[in-house]
Amino acid sequence: MYSFPYTPGPIGVFDSGYGGLTILEKFRKLLPQYDYLYLGDNARTPYGTRSFEIVYEFTLEAVKKLFEFGCPLVILACNTASAKALRSIQQYDLPYLDPTRRVLGVIRPTVERIGNITHTRHVGLLATAGTVRSQSYPLEIRKICPDIQVTGVACPLWVPLVENNEYDSEGADYFVRKYVHELLQKDPEIDTIILGCTHYPLLQHKIRQFTPPHIQLIAQGELVAESLKDYLQRHSDMNARCSRNGHCEFLTTESVEKFRESASVFLHDTEVYVRNVILG
Ligand code: DGL
Repeated sequence: MYSFPYTPGPIGVFDSGYGGLTILEKFRKLLPQYDYLYLGDNARTPYGTRSFEIVYEFTLEAVKKLFEFGCPLVILACNTASAKALRSIQQYDLPYLDPTRRVLGVIRPTVERIGNITHTRHVGLLATAGTVRSQSYPLEIRKICPDIQVTGVACPLWVPLVENNEYDSEGADYFVRKYVHELLQKDPEIDTIILGCTHYPLLQHKIRQFTPPHIQLIAQGELVAESLKDYLQRHSDMNARCSRNGHCEFLTTESVEKFRESASVFLHDTEVYVRNVILG
């Protein structure tokens, strides 16, 4: 009988910085048996204001690095990378890099659930400038629910607030209020807001504070974790390639000490095993 040729490896999770840790946290909660390898491109964050070409180039470098570390499956836990690089990587790069591995994003799992949540069929999107400009959310939502109207507002200062540990500060209030207000001015019928950036759950209590109570805020972590679970159940070949020791390790392109400190805050871990890597 033909024996399975692959050595199992961890599930790769990539973000420009710390935001993807909010997704990883939900993966580990729902699917604790798997191993995970997280890569934060902290040296080059944020991606949200960068061009399509640069986000694609950086994301491809990250995917290649996670493949080098043996990940059979990589989740782009970053909306900006999912919006600007995922399709090109899936279509043009995977076939020659390794057609047996997979790269998935966070937009599709979020979009699939929106139709069941909104009543007014007016949905707001708060995200990075890159994600809003890409139109990925309205385009993907239209494919599933053509009757939903999507209005987006870019929040360029929110990622720097999170990356610099200022998400809880009084200074953050001004910028949270500003973008929420701008969104609701643009479309007062919105009853559901997608937090379309994996950094934003850290600001969620402030966003809640400045958003009318009838509006639902949709963070992506649980939706993406449920979607990963479903994917692994449906793809037994890939499931068999994902190692299962309940371990989690981290790679950063920036300072190991800084990453360890921040990751502990995000993940409530006592010990974070982190290494420095160079991309490119
Ligand atoms: N966490 C990211 C996202 O979901 C990235 C933001 C950034 O680097 O600007 O879009």
